[in-house]
Parts: sequence; structure tokens; C-alpha cells
Amino acid sequence: MDTLEIKEAIDKAIENYLYEKEPILLYDAVKHLPFAGGKRLRPIIACLACNAVGSEFTKAIPFAVALELIHTFTLVHDDIMDKDEERRGMPAVHKKFGENIAILAGDALFAKAFEVASYIKDAAIAKIILRNLAIMAKEICEGQEMDIRFEEMEYVEEKMFLEMIEKKTAKMFEHAAMGGAIIGGGNEKEVKALQEYGKSLGMAFQIWDDCLDVIGKDIGKPVGSDIREGKKTLIYIYAYKNSEDREWLKNYGREDASKEEIDEIIKFFEEIRAIEYAKNKAIEFAAKAIKALDVIRESEAKEKLAEMAEFAVKREK
Ligand code: IPE
Ligand code: IPE
Ligand code: MG
Ligand code: MG
Ligand code: MG
Repeated sequence: MDTLEIKEAIDKAIENYLYEKEPILLYDAVKHLPFAGGKRLRPIIACLACNAVGSEFTKAIPFAVALELIHTFTLVHDDIMDKDEERRGMPAVHKKFGENIAILAGDALFAKAFEVASYIKDAAIAKIILRNLAIMAKEICEGQEMDIRFEEMEYVEEKMFLEMIEKKTAKMFEHAAMGGAIIGGGNEKEVKALQEYGKSLGMAFQIWDDCLDVIGKDIGKPVGSDIREGKKTLIYIYAYKNSEDREWLKNYGREDASKEEIDEIIKFFEEIRAIEYAKNKAIEFAAKAIKALDVIRESEAKEKLAEMAEFAVKREK
């Protein structure tokens, strides 16, 4: 078993579950992102967690697909809210199909996720998973609301930032690992450990992703977007706290900022070591994720889970 085999099984299942064809415009928009690639991190983690507690990874496939569909739904709507026109190296859904169809495609993906999750064989487990997915989705909305609200604020405490990313991003990783463990029949201790693993990994993942928004290359989505949108990332928060002269603020959050103005802010972030600060925080969270795996019995799946946490803070795209 390797992660490539899991990824292929997930891709195949996505293809099978997304059987709808008409109306063509809607379903072309629905399928645009799921078939545009993507790292499939959340479904892979769900399958690995299921395997790590002693079950075949395939048992977690409907749940894994449901997660990926909810993830793609959040991306479709997120790109509208963040005014980003590129995703997974392709035009964003709203760019290609228009905003109305993108809103609908997101809604359909969201609904589709619950249909797919209901195919989990064990009825009692399906009920728990469905409820957890619904709670998770609500929390993502809460996190996204904070993220957007923070755009208008000059400063946000690090604690609030952490709460925001926990909700908008880490929750999904938390549920991926926890849900996989529940489906795999893990005991209470294992489920809790994997939940903690997923949450910490998710925190690491988002903070690192925010760094890539500043210094990344070929990441399949626009670089500098957070600066233009006025996002309160950890990089911003650190830079704000540690700079006396806040001249750089004048171009932060300006949608029409030129490439030179963006580059100037990035250069400043590097000089003041704000990116380094954020990267170190991400690395701390990844270490915490790996530590949480201590109580899980040794296996190939466990090793792969640890590798996923390492990847989260190493990846360049
Ligand atoms: C993007 O997630 C959204 C964030 C939480 C930063 P991914 O980087 O996992 O996106 P895909 O699925 O690989 O496109
Ligand atoms: C990701 O936030 C969280 C969700 C999509 C729910 P971002 O807005 O930072 O993600 P990217 O950078 O657009 O992928
Ligand atoms: Mg966003
Ligand atoms: Mg975004
Ligand atoms: Mg981002």
C-alpha cells in the first residue's frame, strides 16, 4: 500500500460517484475542480487513518470522497469571496462559468458530498459521520466569516488568527483523520490521537500555505493574493507587531496594487523575518501532529501519516 495507490482509488471513486450529466452547464461546472487535479490530502489522510487502526483503507472511500467534495465546494466559493481567478492551475470555476453557476456548482458539490457519505455501509457509523460532516461544514463557514471580517481590521491578535484557521482549514483535516479512524473501528484513544494529529497538521498546512501565497512559485493559484485582499495572516500579524514605521501598510489590502508594490511588501516581510516566523510556527504544529501519533501502533500507514505532516511544511507548491 502506498499513497499513490490510495490517490488512484480516490480518483476512480470520484469519477464513479459524479455520474450526473445534465444539465450540462451545471455539471460541467461541478466537475471542473474535482477533475482538475489537486493533492487529495484530506481523503488520503482519511484512508490512512482508517488503515492505521487496522482496517482496509477502501472502507473509508465514500467518506474520503465526501470530504474532497466538501473541500472543492469551499474552494469554488472561496475563490469568489477572495476574488481569485486561478485554482489548481486552471481558471477558477467562477472565472470559467460565471458567478451564478459557480455558486450553484458549489451548492451541488456540497449536497453531493452528503449523498456520497450516506453510502457508508454501517448505518450507525454513517449517522455519526454525517452529523460530524455537517458540524464541520458549519465550522468552516464560521472560519471563513472570520477570515473575511478580519480583512477590514487593521490588526488581529495571533490567538484570533489561530482560531480562524482552526475553523476554516484545520477542522477538515481533524475530521479527515478522526472520521477515518472511526470508520476503521479505532478505539477511543486512537480516534482521539488521530483527531489531534489532523488538527495540528491542518494548522501547519494553512500557515505554510499562507507563506506560499507570498513566496511560492507555480502553486496553481495567484501569488500575492492575500496581500491584495488585506488578509490577516500570521506573516502580517508578526510584521505589524514588529515594525515601527508602518509605511508598508499603505499598499496592503489594495486590490489594484502593482506588482512592484506587492514585491516591496514581500521584500519587507522577508527583511523583518515575518515569513521565517510563520514557517517556524507551521513546523511546530507539524511536529505536534507527529507527536500525536505516538499512541498509534507501528505500521506503514502510520509512517505515511507522519510523512504527510512533514510534507505540509516542506512543500513548495
Ligand atoms: C487549499 O487546499 C485550501 C487551503 C486550505 C489552503 P489544498 O492546497 O489542499 O488544495 P488542493 O486540493 O491541493 O487543490
Ligand atoms: C482556505 O483559505 C480555506 C478554505 C478554502 C475553506 P484560503 O483562501 O487561504 O485558501 P487559498 O489560498 O485560496 O487556497
Ligand atoms: Mg479564503
Ligand atoms: Mg482563497
Ligand atoms: Mg491562501
